[in-house]
Amino acid sequence: MKKGLLLSAVLLLCFSVAAIAVPAGRSLEFSKSSMGKVTFSGEIHKAAGVVCKECHNADMFPKMKQGTVEIKMSAIYAGQLCGKCHNGDRAFEAKKNCTRCHKR
Ligand code: HEC
Ligand code: HEC
Ligand code: HEC
Repeated sequence: MKKGLLLSAVLLLCFSVAAIAVPAGRSLEFSKSSMGKVTFSGEIHKAAGVVCKECHNADMFPKMKQGTVEIKMSAIYAGQLCGKCHNGDRAFEAKKNCTRCHKR
């Protein structure tokens, strides 16, 4: 009985780690904009040295679930969400580089 419980706990842990480890190498697509689809690459951001909690925190994208936060350009231009970095400082500036994010 005890052994069974331990085994399920270990299995559960493995599964949650696997589920969490996926998005770093995954891409999310945002296709609501008339400017064209935006592909967010977990891999590119990881390679650029960005860690999970820089984005997944109360002020930016609190939940690891797509669709929780609606992304508007007004917020990006104001230095929020993607615009916290895509401001020409840490990463390319959103205002001058529409097509580096939006692809038709
Ligand atoms: C540069 C910003 C950024 C970084 C860094 C980042 N994420 Fe995310 N992640 C996002 C955004 C944006 C979403 C969509 C959230 C929303 O729509 O509210 C998301 C969604 C997710 C989702 C849900 C995917 C789905 O299909 O719904 C998971 C899981 C996730 N991230 C895990 C991670 C993990 C683990 C890391 C670190 C290895 C990480 N993220 C790093 C921006 C980031
Ligand atoms: C914590 C900082 C940070 C946040 C937040 C962030 N990025 Fe990035 N992003 C980077 C860095 C750093 C790079 C790589 C350097 C560069 O290309 O300027 C990058 C690169 C990219 C690229 C690659 C473009 C190319 O031409 O190679 C895209 C597309 C992109 N980000 C989209 C997004 C989107 C969409 C969001 C919001 C959901 C977002 N980023 C949020 C830091 C960030
Ligand atoms: C750093 C990446 C990035 C850059 C650069 C960027 N956008 Fe966006 N944009 C997004 C994301 C992500 C969304 C959300 C799309 C969705 O929810 O499907 C979005 C949404 C939009 C929308 C629909 C929502 C709204 O705010 O009206 C428009 C229009 C738009 N972008 C235009 C532009 C224009 C014009 C530029 C250049 C001046 C630009 N974008 C540059 C990432 C970017």
